[in-house]
Amino acid sequence: MIGVPGSRSQGRARLVALGSYVPTQILSNADLERQVDTTDEWIVSRTGIRERRIVAPGQATSDLAILAATNVLEAAQRGADEIDVLIVPTCTPDHLFPSVSAITANAIGAHAAAAFDIQAACSGFIYGLAQALALVESGLAQNVLVVGAEVFSRVTNPHDRGTCILFGDAAAGALVVRDEDGGPSGFLGFELGADGSRGDQLIIPVGGTRHPASEPFDPDDAYVQMNGREVFRFATRVIEDSVLRLLDRLGMTIDDVDLLVPHQANQRIIDHAIGRLGIDATRVFNNLEHYGNTSAASIPLAMAEARDAGALRPGMRVMMVGFGAGLTWAACFVRYEPE
Ligand code: ACO
Repeated sequence: MIGVPGSRSQGRARLVALGSYVPTQILSNADLERQVDTTDEWIVSRTGIRERRIVAPGQATSDLAILAATNVLEAAQRGADEIDVLIVPTCTPDHLFPSVSAITANAIGAHAAAAFDIQAACSGFIYGLAQALALVESGLAQNVLVVGAEVFSRVTNPHDRGTCILFGDAAAGALVVRDEDGGPSGFLGFELGADGSRGDQLIIPVGGTRHPASEPFDPDDAYVQMNGREVFRFATRVIEDSVLRLLDRLGMTIDDVDLLVPHQANQRIIDHAIGRLGIDATRVFNNLEHYGNTSAASIPLAMAEARDAGALRPGMRVMMVGFGAGLTWAACFVRYEPE
């Protein structure tokens, strides 16, 4: 990518296409009943999740990202050579480096693209959209592809019933393009945040530079460790707060939101937030029953399915909102403007 900031000052960013890929193998609650001390009834009543998708042996995060990226480009009817920047939000990369985005860009033939990963856990897709908006409206890029991709099945302890029931594998994303029509931005606003003081509430302790995998470690520490109740409390608060703060800054109310697409972590968290926000459930899209929490892929996966189901239609104003490890949170209010 080569760009000169401000060189095309009339440009505006538009979210034009969505796409996704999920692995074919299904891990059901009945499968988990055989794996840990749990029941379908417990999982459904506490989370709303019935099944999730799991990668095949040997499959890694970039394998999912490649297929999702291809799917977005097909929806946009654009070639990989038109992509200026490929951003992959992920917290379960193939390796510490090279990045999933560099691997993906090479595999899809986006040879002119700059490529980088974003680590903001489940908030990552919205952080990625904020980057896309900034790159496009500054004139630095014309077309930015953002693909959230995660393989949580490889970092979740199969013997920990508090976490192994929650997560699934998936990749999904969106294409943000630059329009020269001089109209208002397709992005109405963002609310992004992080509270690192509570980073230990949701953490994989081993594998980075604090506790390298090259030194002896407790195998449990190589997996996700989560204080579920604390994350639950955080999530219900930040979903409501970030959506209301963003709407307030825009001089709007919840009635201006055509569709709410929350991070698909737990149906109880979503129901709690819907109640507090006072939005009708018919204007909220959920699919976590089939996929569980797919972290950075969860919101674009729900967006793509909402489009396929006819719940997301051209011109609609969509509020996406998420939270995750960090602890981080993110909301984005955007107009869906396919070509
Ligand atoms: N099956 C049966 N019992 C279970 C299970 C299970 N799978 N998991 C926990 N329990 C038990 C616990 O051991 C506990 O038993 P006890 O009372 O005898 O000690 C009891 O159920 C209640 O446990 P809680 O942890 O209080 O259950 P809770 O209702 O809070 O539900 C859950 C747990 C589903 C994890 C919930 O706290 C939650 O969803 N938290 C938010 C998680 C989340 O959204 N994470 C986002 C991650 S985003 C990212 O960035 C990766």
